[in-house]
Amino acid sequence: MAETPKPAASQETVVTDTPAAPKAKPAAKRAATRAASGSASAAGKEPSAAKKATSKAAGTKTAATKKTTPRADSATSTAKKPTAATPKAKAAPKPKAAAKKAAPKTASPAATKPASARMTKAQKEAADKIFAERLARHHDELRWLYMELYDNGDMFAELCDQMKHFFDERSTKLKELDAQREAAGAWYRASDMLGMQMYIDNFAGTIKGVEEKLDYVQQCNVNYLHLMPFLDTPADKSRSDGGYAVSDFRRVKPELGTMDDLAHLADECHERGISLCMDFVMNHTSEDHEWARRARAGEGEYMSRYFFVKDQGIIDRYTRDVPQVFPTTAPGHFTYLPELDQCVMTQFYPYQWDLNYRNPRVFNEMMYNFLFLANQGMDIIRIDAVPYIWKQLGTNCRNLKQVHTIVRMMRMIGEIVCPGIVLLGEVVMAPVEVVPYFGTVEKPECHMLYNVTTMATTWNTVACRDTRLLRSQLDAVFGLPREYTFLNYLRCHDDIGWGLDYGTLSAWGMAEVPHKQFLNDYFCGVAPGSVSRGELYNADPVTGDARFCGTTASMCGIEAAGFEGDEAAMDVAIRKDIMLHAYMFTQSGLPIIYSGDEIGQVNDYSYKEDPEKAADSRYIHRGAFDWGLTENIEKPGTIQQRIFSALAQLEDIRRTEAIFGAEAEVCTKDYSDTSILWIVRRAGGRELHAVFNFSDDAKTVWMPETATHTDLMSGTTAEVTTVDMPSWSFIWMLK
Ligand code: GLC
Repeated sequence: MAETPKPAASQETVVTDTPAAPKAKPAAKRAATRAASGSASAAGKEPSAAKKATSKAAGTKTAATKKTTPRADSATSTAKKPTAATPKAKAAPKPKAAAKKAAPKTASPAATKPASARMTKAQKEAADKIFAERLARHHDELRWLYMELYDNGDMFAELCDQMKHFFDERSTKLKELDAQREAAGAWYRASDMLGMQMYIDNFAGTIKGVEEKLDYVQQCNVNYLHLMPFLDTPADKSRSDGGYAVSDFRRVKPELGTMDDLAHLADECHERGISLCMDFVMNHTSEDHEWARRARAGEGEYMSRYFFVKDQGIIDRYTRDVPQVFPTTAPGHFTYLPELDQCVMTQFYPYQWDLNYRNPRVFNEMMYNFLFLANQGMDIIRIDAVPYIWKQLGTNCRNLKQVHTIVRMMRMIGEIVCPGIVLLGEVVMAPVEVVPYFGTVEKPECHMLYNVTTMATTWNTVACRDTRLLRSQLDAVFGLPREYTFLNYLRCHDDIGWGLDYGTLSAWGMAEVPHKQFLNDYFCGVAPGSVSRGELYNADPVTGDARFCGTTASMCGIEAAGFEGDEAAMDVAIRKDIMLHAYMFTQSGLPIIYSGDEIGQVNDYSYKEDPEKAADSRYIHRGAFDWGLTENIEKPGTIQQRIFSALAQLEDIRRTEAIFGAEAEVCTKDYSDTSILWIVRRAGGRELHAVFNFSDDAKTVWMPETATHTDLMSGTTAEVTTVDMPSWSFIWMLK
């Protein structure tokens, strides 16, 4: 793209913004001191110091101290002038040099056979024309946003050159898929889509292993596979955050395979009509990433890609204003680095260094990584922890408007280079913060978002046997424009945080802290009458807050009933599990099953024996897939057969009945009994009454009118006035 390079204004900005100066003893000493007192206080010995604790002791999980703040705001803090360690010239490499540097490092089938390699001149011209048209469609807005954020024409020109480079590199097959998907529109909204998320090692050992197991994936009716993080991370699992601490965005973790294996798997998936989703962890890198290693060595250019702080005042302000992500397993927002005598921002774990998106070099390079991965054949890119990517002192550093600018730019960059791909935003925030990530219909951001509040509210309903809150949450979602596509799930690889509408709950007499306590007691199985099993995650002694971990089956009571050998309880637990899946499939959007849920896999407590995992209770629901259990799928009466075949039937109905189409009108219906959830779908003159009994008692429900209905599960058609529903059961009645 021909953009006249301008003097690189941001070279100065980047360096100025870099609170680099690696040696400043006094601040460092304060940091160390605070780290020590933080640890003590976290252990409950020194409450007042505990409140002050803000940074993480480097490489440990103990509480620590400091906080800092981001660049421009922190211009007050440190190095304004480039030091020997922060060479100005390096901050913004010239377009050509950068283009070379950004070229894919690892060969793969998709990348090594770029469309351009085998093209005739005419074909090349046609491809160039497509690129030019797409770029023209977005150029002005993209440039406007880029300049607003970075005011750097050189870097924008480089970005445009690189988009063309990745477009040229994109394989003919992927370009054809792009064209098909552009023509089809929102392909990911089709009601025959069914997703599954899985860890490669847990499921099949390696990427090649997954490819060998694709028949099973298809047996589950799955045509969207989310492979949990597989890029290179530190081998020590206590420093990898389940793969979310990436040390190389262009290399697969060696024990899982190679980029070639990945591209091969993607190719095979596409042949079978399966799309692949991967995580793009854009908020941070591992401390082992080359940038972090060079920053730790004091190279200014690389320090400017993260947030370094020496000023305790800034750290304190940050601590005051920004909520903690992992208050127990990784308290604080900063980690002290003795080598530099400074703190680096680490909002998640101390080994996950927050990237500085105020530096255009970071934005550009991360976009090149994104395009590189898209070119390996990825269809859905899950943008991890995206609300956190922009930091500004004096705010809570979540969902800032610059985050939306970046996501909007990412959407346009995708539409220019690889329009077949989908951006899935991981926005685990209050509903009011989630929806803006769709952008607007004219200026969209993410294609899909997690339906996180609905998920948490669903489990709240299970514990309370009261559907009122869920109804109001579903009404809010159903009232959104239909273009807004949600990913629906009962649970994922993370803990369940109780992000509920406490305004409404407290009006009903349920205050936040005791209510969370009730939910955690219920799901841990300590509340009277609870059949759930699981463990707390990040129980915060200061706020009294805690999140919850456990598999769907264990939360439904399958683990407890199995342990106690209680067949009647097992029947109820299995019914509850199936009902919840039916409820998930009733909603519009993309349903995702967590690998193992299709056979009712229960909690795996073996993580406690592994010192690298023991501190993170999320591993309780990340156990290895039990292939032995799949042998029971065909054996009538087994737990696995009962769940697997019921889900298969639900999936089949959802795929073939037009009433489940994305265009249907969906609403909830008021019903006199608050333990009954009633969802209505209307399309093509038909009406589906989906009714769910969230109670321990059998119920008789009255249909709105006596009329001929087809029970989609049994296939019988009859005039229906009332329906008898066992506890925790559901009906799908089509009128
Ligand atoms: C996301 C992931 C979570 C991870 C965090 C930090 O929230 O889902 O597993 O710990 O990002 O990368």
